[in-house]
Amino acid sequence: MKTKLITSTSLVVAALVTGSIAQAQELQVRMGEPAHGLTAAELNRFALGKTQFKRQFNAADGLGPIFNDDSCATCHSTPAIGGASNKFVTRFGKAANGPNPFDALDSLGGSLLQVQAIDPNVQEFVPPQADVTASRVTPSAIGAGFVQAIPDATLLALAANPPSPNVSGIAHMVTKLEDPLGPQVVGRFGWKAQVATMLTFSGDAGLMEMGITNHLVPTEQAPNGNGALLAVFDTVADPEDNAPVGQRIIDRWDDFQRLLAVPPQWPPQGTMSGEVLFNQVGCADCHVTTFVTGAAPEAALSGKVIHPYSDFLLHDMGSLGDGIVQGQGTEKEMRTSALWGVRFRNVLLHDGRVNSGSFSTLINQAVGFHDGEAAASRNAYQALSPADQAKVVAFLDSLGRLEFDVDGDNDRDDIDWFFLKPLFTGPAAGSFNADAAGTIGDSDLDGDFDLADFGRYQRGFTGQP
Ligand code: HEC
Ligand code: HEC
Repeated sequence: MKTKLITSTSLVVAALVTGSIAQAQELQVRMGEPAHGLTAAELNRFALGKTQFKRQFNAADGLGPIFNDDSCATCHSTPAIGGASNKFVTRFGKAANGPNPFDALDSLGGSLLQVQAIDPNVQEFVPPQADVTASRVTPSAIGAGFVQAIPDATLLALAANPPSPNVSGIAHMVTKLEDPLGPQVVGRFGWKAQVATMLTFSGDAGLMEMGITNHLVPTEQAPNGNGALLAVFDTVADPEDNAPVGQRIIDRWDDFQRLLAVPPQWPPQGTMSGEVLFNQVGCADCHVTTFVTGAAPEAALSGKVIHPYSDFLLHDMGSLGDGIVQGQGTEKEMRTSALWGVRFRNVLLHDGRVNSGSFSTLINQAVGFHDGEAAASRNAYQALSPADQAKVVAFLDSLGRLEFDVDGDNDRDDIDWFFLKPLFTGPAAGSFNADAAGTIGDSDLDGDFDLADFGRYQRGFTGQP
């Protein structure tokens, strides 16, 4: 089985190298835009979904009584709607003690704190019984539909046959809220991989972050577990999201998130010298490069090669764990973060503890906090020369970058042209070099930045969004 996985990865790499020109014909999609190849009806669903994702709810719509914010997009905002941010939520609980396991303090409103309320009388607080609190920053939903479409069997095979003896990822088996009696499936979303589908996440986030009840989770959260207070302040009939199935607000949120394109990457996967080093020091043992999606409801999401740089499994991260138990995810276990789009993150790790300095400072610090199963890889990275570490950082800086987007702000505008112009070579006899500056303009990967590339730049020109 191990050989089989390796073979399929190298086949994909071979396909990329031989088929690179064909692959590079279509320009990549900017973060936050719909996936390539959606039908008109699917694009319409994306647009309706985006409207609901941006919608700011108020108490009359069902917001609260307790909530964290009033729209999905308030937290999922960077570099585009659907993305990540430094907004965080707080989890609390009572740590395991002797024979007593971790207690999520459900009856006191745990484990998620809601920091806002429609009335000061229902304001939640961390109860004095809690002795563990953990901040969790907002991860990105960009590309989530493709991640959802990775077959369970692929992730289970990775868990059963780890790519290296240093790591042993665990598939977090969870129940889908939309199929509560169905078989358990492999979770992949959330810091503990506690959710398997965007519909479940939408139902759960609707309730937990905004207090919008829906058919999947019809009961409001009582402030610190106080049902009497809830009865006084919860005046909108449940479920608050009460349209017919398929047109509910949670269906719209699901559509928008699932139909988002995958983050771009430039130069392409498998070409930069820093990626070779990333593989060599064992980062890719957890931040797994390549998957092929299975059957999704939309053809545009099915059978696609994607590069999320995560195995979506839980790993014992030692001192980096957040102390919270969620489902099968224990105190020290965290899901491998998907690194696609990481160049736009200025707050790293689950609690955002890495949050200032240049991109290379952020990366070096984030790696420095890797522990447990990742300790060997961290040490190998730290043993690299500064020049080699810089190559790994340059590779990570390609995750989320569009071809032609020299200033890296998720568009192709005239400021980029100002920087691109001096890189124009015209037809040249050169060969493709992913580490060279001019590669940003070599969209067909033929070793030059010529008129063919220029034509593509014009077609892909977005202006400032
Ligand atoms: C207060 C900020 C906030 C709001 C509002 C919010 N989220 Fe989130 N979102 C988060 C945080 C924090 C996480 C990580 C949760 C965890 O794992 O504990 C998250 C995780 C997610 C994920 C998983 C992404 C991944 O790759 O793991 C999805 C999907 C998501 N939210 C969707 C939504 C939707 C849909 C809404 C609106 C109903 C919403 N969120 C509202 C903060 C927010
Ligand atoms: C044993 C598995 C494992 C290995 C090996 C590993 N990582 Fe990670 N990585 C994780 C997990 C799990 C997280 C999330 C940890 C958290 O936030 O608590 C993470 C988070 C990150 C983040 C932060 C992403 C974000 O959005 O917050 C970066 C950057 C990162 N890893 C880079 C690397 C690099 C570079 C290497 C190689 C030197 C590496 N990792 C090796 C498992 C691993």
